[in-house]
Amino acid sequence: MPNSHTGTPTEILAKKNAEALLGGGQDRIDAQHKKGKLTARERISLLMDEGSFEEIGKFVMHRSKDFGLDKEYYLGDGVVTGYGTVNGRLVYVFSQDFTVLGGSLSETHAEKIVKIMELAMKNGAPVIGLNDSGGARIQEGVVSLGGYADIFYRNVQASGVVPQISAIMGPCAGGAVYSPAITDFILMVENTSYMFVTGPNVVKTVTHENVTSEELGGASTHSAKSGVTHFSCANEVEAINNIKALLSYMPQNCEDTAPAVPYEAQEDETRPALDTIIPANANQPYDMREVIEGIIDADTFMEVHKNFGENIVVGFARLAGRSIGIVGNQPAVLAGVLDINASTKAARFVRFCDCFNIPLLVLEDVPGFLPGTDQEWRGIITNGAKLLYAFSEATVPRITVITRKAYGGAYDVMNSKHIGADMNYAWPTAEIAVMGAKGAAEIIFKREIAASENPEAKLAEKVTEYQEKFATPYRAAHRGFIDEVITPSETRTKLIKAFKMLENKAVKLPRKKHGNIPL
Ligand code: HXC
Repeated sequence: MPNSHTGTPTEILAKKNAEALLGGGQDRIDAQHKKGKLTARERISLLMDEGSFEEIGKFVMHRSKDFGLDKEYYLGDGVVTGYGTVNGRLVYVFSQDFTVLGGSLSETHAEKIVKIMELAMKNGAPVIGLNDSGGARIQEGVVSLGGYADIFYRNVQASGVVPQISAIMGPCAGGAVYSPAITDFILMVENTSYMFVTGPNVVKTVTHENVTSEELGGASTHSAKSGVTHFSCANEVEAINNIKALLSYMPQNCEDTAPAVPYEAQEDETRPALDTIIPANANQPYDMREVIEGIIDADTFMEVHKNFGENIVVGFARLAGRSIGIVGNQPAVLAGVLDINASTKAARFVRFCDCFNIPLLVLEDVPGFLPGTDQEWRGIITNGAKLLYAFSEATVPRITVITRKAYGGAYDVMNSKHIGADMNYAWPTAEIAVMGAKGAAEIIFKREIAASENPEAKLAEKVTEYQEKFATPYRAAHRGFIDEVITPSETRTKLIKAFKMLENKAVKLPRKKHGNIPL
């Protein structure tokens, strides 16, 4: 039987409210704190503007009778759901309560999540999921699995309609990982959260590997190795602050634009000087993050997927107070080459920005796609094509600045004019060619070099000839593929003007059910 209370109607209500706030009881709350974790309600308090949270379904209880559940009821059934504001903007939230049957997902627990997801879609506001759950409620069997599927289905319906953000703040095993995986961003907390399809015990039985939960699916694993999580956070407070920061760059829904912050406040900022940033030797690395800092409003860069596919940098920033998404090749890591991880990382980011009307800035210094059997056998063709596809279908304002190398297919892929970029700039240091001068000279002058009395000198002569002709931005500028060659120090001003000019861009794609991005 469900718990009953006695007294006047108002007293009964007060008792029920108090019972609901205690979740699985004080002992389990203490155990949660001992693990360094906050409770579901404490997390909501940290996330939401003070006093703004309105709970929905506080007294919901499960309907199960099997395996002792007919004697174990908790008001709210292991998840706190509702709505409120974050920095004054409406969001919907669900926060799983690990103190109630391990936050496990029952049929009714799922119904509560579905209810707020549907409200979020109808009212056009983001959904934040704070996950801390032992997965499907084992006592319930298939109705729990059905509950998961009901959530997955809504995640897909909501994808591209309202932003969806998942924080993983405890275990997330089995099917439970697939709802976060469909959402736009995942944040994990170091040492207290993990995600995997099957845990260490199953892994040991099936593959005979000995691995800890942390190694298999902790925050560092998923932020650096698999790329499943976009942010690895030192603790829960950092994770919640990151959610708030992320939201500040996003609109409420796909019909909206991200909020702007006052521009005037930005004018006394200091930025890295860009005119001296490109090394004299074209093979020397530099950090594209410095270029980013040299362009954007001070202290506004929020890097996404920092530890994964580090040869490309993606993230949000503000330019003259407006939200933009930045994709930059990173010459400081693997010379900024495009490989599988970099391509998929950037493609997903580009698609997010396009879903939610966030203009795109591309900073390009790329020697091409990474050669080799490892990449070819794992499908660099299909994966590189994802980035090509993502840029080509994006209808938001799109601007590229080529800082140095734009070689081969990577020139096409990195938001070239040919695939729909609106404005393409190059710095005087740009080299826009099919490949590097040495490689090019070795191929096209192979016979001439071999027949020469001094092959080395001949090669050097031909390299210089190729460099002078093609390792510049001017061939591309003559054809209009580059709209303007600009000095690095004027980049910020040029971009502010160009994004303003593109503010009302409207493009309709050919009518279709949906495209077929190479997956
Ligand atoms: C019901 C559960 C539960 C579950 C935990 N509990 N998981 N109850 N269903 N899935 C309960 C425990 O009985 C315990 O109850 C309380 O939650 C806390 O659990 P502990 O084991 O004491 O905590 P801890 O040591 O921290 O371990 C947490 C855990 C472990 C790692 C999550 O509980 C665990 O391995 N649970 C099972 C995980 C799992 O296999 N889930 C199913 C995945 S398959 P008391 O009363 O003692 O507090 C799945 C399919 C979905 O999700 C498919 C969708 C497509």
